[in-house]
Amino acid sequence: MTTPERLAQPSMVGPQKPFKRAATRFALRAATAADLPALYQICLATALAGHDGSGHYRDPELPGHLYAAPYLVLAPESCLVLEDEAGVCGYALGCADSAAFHARLEQQWLPPLRQRYPLSEASADADGQLIHRLHQPPQWLPALLPFPAHLHLDLLPRAQGCGQGRRLLEALLETLARQGAAGVHWGVDPANGRAVGFYRRLGFEVVWQQPGCLWFATRFSAGEGL
Ligand SMILES: CC(C)(COP(=O)(O)OP(=O)(O)OC[C@H]1O[C@@H](n2cnc3c(N)ncnc32)[C@H](O)[C@@H]1OP(=O)(O)O)[C@@H](O)C(=O)NCCC(=O)NCCS
Repeated sequence: MTTPERLAQPSMVGPQKPFKRAATRFALRAATAADLPALYQICLATALAGHDGSGHYRDPELPGHLYAAPYLVLAPESCLVLEDEAGVCGYALGCADSAAFHARLEQQWLPPLRQRYPLSEASADADGQLIHRLHQPPQWLPALLPFPAHLHLDLLPRAQGCGQGRRLLEALLETLARQGAAGVHWGVDPANGRAVGFYRRLGFEVVWQQPGCLWFATRFSAGEGL
């Protein structure tokens, strides 16, 4: 059994060893509609290859429109948040069936955004790039078809580096496997060396790469109660 498969076993989910800071400082729970503003904020605060995108985007909501909010609205059953005494400080967002999720994006989520951000008014800057993406979402790569779920994982700096990324990821992998996904994929900016090192440290491998994106993926083991 590979390390990623072991990670997804229920017995491996949750704190298995002491974190560098007290684990009780952070609580993990299912996301609710009230978390939507925090999701937008965290998405922006980690939008530049894991670093703060404030000031990079003229419209601070654009990253969240694409990479955070639609998960909570369309697939809340696959959304987890981490919180501490100061509030929500991280999330793991996903969907078990990417094809169905993308269909719902097209039907429900993207049409009003396309009206609000017309392609004809897209600038040549970072905002414009995301507006183009709203109008022309990337095609699902054939190499990723064996991994039907996908996910996003982001923590604010105060929650990073103390085991909470691993904890969130393991919990979401378990959630997606329980929902029946055969596997999961996720994209990482190659400029985000920290995230690349994190996923490799946890035993995951790049299955496909294209300019600006490394695609990590793992299959869930069949018949192991997930
Ligand atoms: C990347 C990110 C999710 C990692 O989460 P984290 O909470 O900082 O990482 P953890 O503390 O849970 O680390 C888990 C393990 O990975 C190791 N690790 C973390 N980053 C590593 C790196 N760059 N290289 C090697 N190992 C690394 C840790 O040492 C730890 O190992 P251990 O369990 O054996 O002690 C988090 O830092 C983050 O959200 N960054 C900003 C947003 C981002 O980049 N998101 C990912 C977009 S794809």
